[in-house]
Amino acid sequence: MKISADTSDVVGFTPYSIVELPVSVSTANEYLTIHWDNGQSSDFHYLWLRDNCTCAECVTTLTREQMFEICDVPLDIKAESVSISAENRLVVQWDFESHQSSYHPGWLKTHCYSKEAREQRKILPKIWDKQRISQELPVHAFANIMQQDDDLLVWLRDLRDYGVTLVTEVDTSGAALKAVAERIAFIRETNFGTLFEVKAKPNANSAAYTTLRLPLHTDLPTRELQPGLQFLHCLVNDASGGESILVDGFKIAEYMRVHHPDDFKALSTLSMSFYNKDKDSDYRFQGPPLVTDSSGAVVEVRLANFLRGPLDIPADQVMSLYSGYRRFMKLTRESKFQYFHRLNAGDLLVFDNRRVLHARNAFDLRQGERHLQGCYVDRDELLSRIRVLERTSKLDA
Ligand code: OGA
Ligand code: ZN
Ligand code: ZN
Repeated sequence: MKISADTSDVVGFTPYSIVELPVSVSTANEYLTIHWDNGQSSDFHYLWLRDNCTCAECVTTLTREQMFEICDVPLDIKAESVSISAENRLVVQWDFESHQSSYHPGWLKTHCYSKEAREQRKILPKIWDKQRISQELPVHAFANIMQQDDDLLVWLRDLRDYGVTLVTEVDTSGAALKAVAERIAFIRETNFGTLFEVKAKPNANSAAYTTLRLPLHTDLPTRELQPGLQFLHCLVNDASGGESILVDGFKIAEYMRVHHPDDFKALSTLSMSFYNKDKDSDYRFQGPPLVTDSSGAVVEVRLANFLRGPLDIPADQVMSLYSGYRRFMKLTRESKFQYFHRLNAGDLLVFDNRRVLHARNAFDLRQGERHLQGCYVDRDELLSRIRVLERTSKLDA
């Protein structure tokens, strides 16, 4: 039952539908409990509620940013009275400074932090192996994502969830890649340029600009923040060889967590070194190849054999890290994890560079030219664009 989408005084631009109605409120020492009309309930700490007051005194209407500071009220602040208004809002009269707050029911439900609600809100990656991605690879036509915002949204959600998509029929005259990337946001510039040209070059400053095989890797592990999305647009591919291979790094990591827990632990806790030196730049970063979040989930993969520097970790950990790294790389070579695709002119592979490893076979230019154009867009930009599109889209969440 969707009752209304009232955005009136809610911080930000997101409309909050009122799906459940609050029927009563009970209070305890540190928190209150809202009982919803579907039988569920949500606990909210007084301090949390006070922190999230959206009145014009607490949040400046100009920028929608919080002016109120939580250290300016007592830690044990309590409600003097609570009620549900005629508009189904929770109204709290505070026992400090006579402040009153009023909360939109849809906003409260959306921000409920019970274990179940937090689980439900999680957007889980669709982790794949060769079999799954062969059946489910999201393919989108260039014209559709350029012209229709809903098609753009579906593409971007696919990119977020699978970490890889193929865009087809992309104009090969040279201007299309920038235009596609800018459908999301601005491009991340690096020392390789805003757009980089992937072809064999006489004075190559990267293995990518030779005809050599590139083993499975992420780009720019040498940087504190690896680029989030990588775009590889095929303009010409008449050379023999040069096929692309993609592997879901999250899949390998999860496989290792189950089957080789010691190797998983080494890769997620010990730092590897990554170097890239050129005439005018000298990038170095040390960090674990598998990055986990506070819940232990793998959120990032960082690996490129051709950009590794000497290990610089305590001596008694060197063998563990080598064991983990060797294991990971051997697993990436197993065909059951590899998605294989020969790029045709007009194909554009877009993938999450902090999750999906990419590789190419060596190629031979005697048959013809091979030219890809590439660029990067950060993950934040992808997620931000999805949220903005969702504000007005009629597509289901
Ligand atoms: C790169 C890269 C792959 C290819 O440029 O980072 O990995 O197919 N290129 O040439
Ligand atoms: Zn307030
Ligand atoms: Zn690469």
